[in-house]
Amino acid sequence: MMRPMKLGGQELLFGEGTLAHLATLKYKKAVIVLANDVMIQNGVMSIIKGHLTTAQIPFESFIGIESDPGFSTVMRGAEFMRKHEPDLIIAVGGGSAMDAAKAMWIYYENPEIKDLVTLMDKNKFPLLRKKAKLICIPSTAGTASEVSRSIVITDDKTGIKYGIGNMEMVPDIAICDPVTTLSLPKSITAETGMDAMCHALEAIVSNRANYISDILAEKAILDIFETLPKVLKDGSNVSYREKMLTAAMVAGLAFTNVSLGITHSIAHGLGSLFKMPHGLANAILLPYIVEFNSQNESAKKIYDGLATKLGYVDLVSALKDLNHTLGIPSNLSEKLSDKSKFDENLSTLIEYALSDGCTKTNPIIPTKAQMQAIIELAYKGGQ
Ligand SMILES: [Fe+2]
Repeated sequence: MMRPMKLGGQELLFGEGTLAHLATLKYKKAVIVLANDVMIQNGVMSIIKGHLTTAQIPFESFIGIESDPGFSTVMRGAEFMRKHEPDLIIAVGGGSAMDAAKAMWIYYENPEIKDLVTLMDKNKFPLLRKKAKLICIPSTAGTASEVSRSIVITDDKTGIKYGIGNMEMVPDIAICDPVTTLSLPKSITAETGMDAMCHALEAIVSNRANYISDILAEKAILDIFETLPKVLKDGSNVSYREKMLTAAMVAGLAFTNVSLGITHSIAHGLGSLFKMPHGLANAILLPYIVEFNSQNESAKKIYDGLATKLGYVDLVSALKDLNHTLGIPSNLSEKLSDKSKFDENLSTLIEYALSDGCTKTNPIIPTKAQMQAIIELAYKGGQ
């Protein structure tokens, strides 16, 4: 049976100037969640503060979230919120800041929950919005946490990363204003942009894909393919930044409903075992996975249709060209040069990838031997 679609929370805003929506809101008190001072230095926070002042919403800021946010940071943030009692939480930043804010929201509203494991059980996942609503303002065009039901939080005691998904966590309001991404460095622009491409390309061949997710994913793929190289060349162009940010959000609407595939399964493992950045891992892996998935007849048909629209004979060549233009390596060994360390961790990586939640929606569920062959090929490169 089809799973219900949820296309964002209460409101989606996208485009230049949409931060001004904040000035129209009616809340008593806000807590702003920031990873670091980047959004203060680049002037985005002064725009946000200006709009909140117009709306007469007093606010406090929680600053300090590491990449791959840890559970203790989440609990600190929840405590901060309990002290200030906001009825509005505003996350401004990339995936880590938004994921952490979503998690802080859960523990702020439900102080009786003391661990991460409880959230893994969908029967025990609490209802939210008893105390506050959540606005996400992304500062990267990639993760789409602003419209997703997912978070990744690391248990700092064990080092285990928990991927938790529940539609309760879809933020109430997403504001995708390209002003937040104008100062994003080239490498992060490229890697997060390819994460968004990967979301759309995995969603469109997911075995849960549907009519609506296909429309969203295809538009995102075509727009990202065309726009990402332009953004890299001219990062201060607001209309390119706007198209990327909107396309990444649209890719998020698709994947959060129909899930992903084994590019993400392997990338999650590479992140845990080698600290490889998520977007970079996805970008390198993607052509290899498209090649593997092409053994599935319906996936191949979808890939071929996309390639034609992009002006290519096959999608693998299109993705290799795109990676080359973006300066992304053609294989994993260029980033993970210690071969013996890679070999030592290979069996764990295979196990992680096979058991990852994204594997079950890939068009082909790989055997252990197939997963090993894919990873080894992506490591050394070639056909
Ligand atoms: Fe991703």
